Amino acid sequence: MQSRARHWRREGRRIAFVPTMGFLHEGHLSLMRIGRERGDILVTSIFVNPTQFAPGEDFEAYPRDMARDLTLADSVGTDAVFTPDNEMIYEPGFQTYVNSERLATGLCGVSRPIFFRGVATVVAKLFNIVQPAIAVFGEKDFQQLVIIRRLVTDLNYDIEIVAGPTIREKNGLAMSSRNAYLRSEQRPAALGLFQALQQSRALVRKGERRADRIIDAATRHIGSFDETTIDYIAIVDPETLEDLAVVDRPARMALAVKVGSTRLIDNMALED
Ligand code: PAJ
Repeated sequence: MQSRARHWRREGRRIAFVPTMGFLHEGHLSLMRIGRERGDILVTSIFVNPTQFAPGEDFEAYPRDMARDLTLADSVGTDAVFTPDNEMIYEPGFQTYVNSERLATGLCGVSRPIFFRGVATVVAKLFNIVQPAIAVFGEKDFQQLVIIRRLVTDLNYDIEIVAGPTIREKNGLAMSSRNAYLRSEQRPAALGLFQALQQSRALVRKGERRADRIIDAATRHIGSFDETTIDYIAIVDPETLEDLAVVDRPARMALAVKVGSTRLIDNMALED
């Protein structure tokens, strides 16, 4: 992959890169279409990265379907799909990690303390292998996007980070590979995340500015469904990810909820 990338770069072609963990859905494909538009060469990676899963999380169970993924990646004009195995990415003796500090400690970092270390490390490695000029990430994983932007600045990667909007099912449920875990009777609860975000936006539009009240209403809505356990519901500054008490400037509402044993996340800007 690296020598192929070097070859493309020597020819002056701009590589656009979309890293994924596979089990591709329309959200991933939308990012690939953005990459296709923005770059000369589109590279996708499919790698279920073990270092971003803690013991007891769903690394083994994570859904995988390489044959289908390759067909889908091909259908949007991907030039190369990089599908390394664990030993190729983490050679014996591996011990160098990339740590984001403050940005990785809140929100998902509270219940998943090693998650962003794994993400930042593998993304840094993939950047060095694929050598993109552009990399596309989804707003669906908002904290991840902010951390990657910071990583690119802090480590002087010469890569333009492009954000793609969250792609949703018709009913509003944010697409996710993990939606495959949901049983049909759990889907209304999963949809509760989107509804809570929409309701929060409506509250802000009606003039509510107090974050605690908006969060209370969202907590009640999600709590009204069976099998939901709230990990967090937060209203944060979209750049620093620090909690806001008052919605008097750009604000992002972010939440993580377990529906049964499936952990779902979603987020939305609270103002247009
Ligand atoms: P994965 O969950 O497969 O997501 C790959 C990319 O697709 C991420 O940038 C994510 O934000 C984006 N994405 C997922 N669902 C989306 C949706 N509904 N709409 C738009 N974009 C969506 O995120 C990861 O993999 C990994 O952490 C990775 C960055 C590959 C590092 O291992």
